[in-house]
Amino acid sequence: MGNFENKTVIVTGASRGLGKQIALEFAKKGAAVVVNYSSAKEEAGKVVNEIQLAGGRAISVQADVSNAADVERLFDEASRQFGKIDIVINNAGVMITKLLQDVSEADFDRQFAINTKSVFLVLKQAVEKLENGGRIVTISSSTSRLMMPGYSVYSATKAAVEQLSKVVAKEVGHRDITVNCVLPGPINTALFRNGKSTELIDKIAGLSAFNRIGEPEDIVPVILFLASKEAQWITGQTIGANGGMS
Ligand SMILES: NC(=O)c1ccc[n+]([C@@H]2O[C@H](COP(=O)([O-])OP(=O)(O)OC[C@H]3O[C@@H](n4cnc5c(N)ncnc54)[C@H](OP(=O)(O)O)[C@@H]3O)[C@@H](O)[C@H]2O)c1
Repeated sequence: MGNFENKTVIVTGASRGLGKQIALEFAKKGAAVVVNYSSAKEEAGKVVNEIQLAGGRAISVQADVSNAADVERLFDEASRQFGKIDIVINNAGVMITKLLQDVSEADFDRQFAINTKSVFLVLKQAVEKLENGGRIVTISSSTSRLMMPGYSVYSATKAAVEQLSKVVAKEVGHRDITVNCVLPGPINTALFRNGKSTELIDKIAGLSAFNRIGEPEDIVPVILFLASKEAQWITGQTIGANGGMS
């Protein structure tokens, strides 16, 4: 699916988890990949090494996606290294799960900064700097549909990026740029596993039609399809990839 030869992709939060898998798959299909991270320099370097050892093209760029100057530098570095930017995957995110009365103001601000303000900042850069025919895919979450206790603020950060994307899709359509969101269910990454018992993970797995947690490999093909030429008529959409959980 999709041939990404001569395309440049920025993947935010690509040092581990879903973002890492997205970066590796784009590279396998010929794209030059910008592996963004905020603090995990060594892990991001390993992703770049893996791509280069397989004959692909990649660089890592440190940038806190909740910081406007960092996001601008991320885009400028991508253009400087690879000449143009075709695809942006808004993947970086954090999750803090607590009942609302236990959520601190700092918890709220951190999640909205890294999950939502980041998408706003990246979209602004993308609208200005993406090639015509470009693709923007934002990783939301099926929690925006599930209304699960403990996920109030996290779900709100994701619902907000879905709205941003749907409106921006109509603002950039005249340049054949598409803007979509993918809504994974629970995926087997650090973000999901941290702080959860095996019993709880099994219980959550039971909510899917396949009685298991998703793997990054379950989600990545959906993202690559939306980033492909073949997906040119799909924009402003929110696509669930959650094993039938919602
Ligand atoms: N795992 C799930 O169950 C699940 C389900 C639905 C949706 N999602 C969404 O999928 C996306 C990826 O999640 P994941 O599970 O792969 O998470 P993860 O394993 O915790 O990885 C998160 C990535 O984001 C980066 N990151 C965090 N803060 C950043 C910042 N301020 N600037 C730049 N990069 C930053 C991290 O790098 P550093 O360590 O360098 O900061 C890391 O590479 C997130 O948007 C998440 O909300 C996940």
